[in-house]
This record gives sequence, structure tokens and C-alpha cells, in this order.
Amino acid sequence: MTSPLDSQTPAFWEERYRTERLPWDLGGAPIELVEALGTELRPPGRVLIPGCGSGYEVSLFIAAGWEVCAIDFAPAAVARAQTILGAAGPCVRLGDFFAEPFPEPFDLVYDRTFLCSLSPVRWPEYADRVASLLRPGGWLAGIFFYGEDPEPPPYPLSLAKADQLFGTRFRRRADRPIAAAQALPVYGGGERWQIWERLPAPTP
Ligand SMILES: C[S@@+](CC[C@H](N)C(=O)[O-])C[C@H]1O[C@@H](n2cnc3c(N)ncnc32)[C@H](O)[C@@H]1O
Repeated sequence: MTSPLDSQTPAFWEERYRTERLPWDLGGAPIELVEALGTELRPPGRVLIPGCGSGYEVSLFIAAGWEVCAIDFAPAAVARAQTILGAAGPCVRLGDFFAEPFPEPFDLVYDRTFLCSLSPVRWPEYADRVASLLRPGGWLAGIFFYGEDPEPPPYPLSLAKADQLFGTRFRRRADRPIAAAQALPVYGGGERWQIWERLPAPTP
């Protein structure tokens, strides 16, 4: 019997990468990111990609001038990404998003369906971590899962929950459904492209 909290362990994901049961895997970079790299997400800077999985986006970021750090805590995911990426493979490393030391702030945290892989009990910790890793004015951007899922993961967000998590420290800059052609059955059409801007800390 699998406990839902198993999905918080590397072993849960490792087994899926090893057996290539990857219903969340898009097979390439999302069109929304391709478009945003020429528009909303400029100028380029330093990007962190937590829970990067196959890491398709890494080459795209590099081509757009970004310095990339991508991490995943499942060794088979890291190996898969490094094979897919070839020369860009060293941008991907094994690590736990919540524990990995990052000495410098990032301009962007890019999340494609990483938050929804985490149990909601960890979401406040996720929001704190992202807020602490971003410079003021930096962005949290990517594809987030809204809707319902009777058998998580993935764990769906709601607008109210997102506002509660991000509301005081972030401002929502973009929010739209993704292209229907790129929607995956596992998310039931609930994927949304969003950009959250990190607000400066209030002065005392
Ligand atoms: C739903 S998958 C998404 C993968 C990738 N972003 C994509 O779009 O295909 C979630 C990923 O997060 C990774 N993950 C889960 N918890 C993690 C953590 N605490 N630190 C780093 N990676 C984690 C899993 O190993 C898995 O690859």
C-alpha cells in the first residue's frame, strides 16, 4: 500500500523514472516558456529549476542567455536529464530543493509542475524557500496545476490557496491557461502559465 507521503521521497520518483512511467513528462519545453523568454521573462539572468525532471527547458534557457542551475532529488531523473542535454548536462545536479545551499540569489525560479508534486503540507515551506532564493523583483514562473485530483499527486492549487501562499510577498503578473495542445491527461486540463513577482520586503 502506497502512502501519499511516499511522493515526498526520492524513492517514489526514482522508481517512476527507472520504469519510465512519466505521465507528467511533456517530452519537450512548453510553448509558453518559449514565448515568455522573448517577452515577459527578460532580461536574462540566473534561473533555478527545482524538480527539473528530464530538464528539457535547460537548453532553451541557455540559448536565451540565462545562467541555469537545475536540480532534482531522484538520481534517475538527473541521469535522464544529463543524457537528454548532452553538453548542457552539467547544469543539472542531484539535490533536494529544500536543503541545497545556493549562495547567490536567483532572478527566476522556474517551476513546471514541481509544486503540485509536493504535499500541501509543504507548500508554505516552498513559498518561503522561493521567496528567500529570489532577489526582490525576481520571478517565480512556470506551469502550475489548478483544479481537482481525487488521487494526488498531483496536488491541485486553487486561486484562494495560491493567494494565501504567495499573496503578501508576491504579485501575480501573468495567469492564463496553457495551450490545449500541450495539456496532459494527468492534469485534466488544469495547467496554467503564471508569473509571480517577488515584492521587496517592507521597510520597518
Ligand atoms: C511532477 S515531476 C515534474 C518534473 C519536471 N519539472 C517536468 O516538468 O517534467 C516532479 C519532480 O520533482 C522532483 N522532486 C520532488 N521533490 C523534490 C525535492 N524536494 N527536491 C528536488 N526534486 C524534487 C521529482 O523527482 C520529480 O522529478
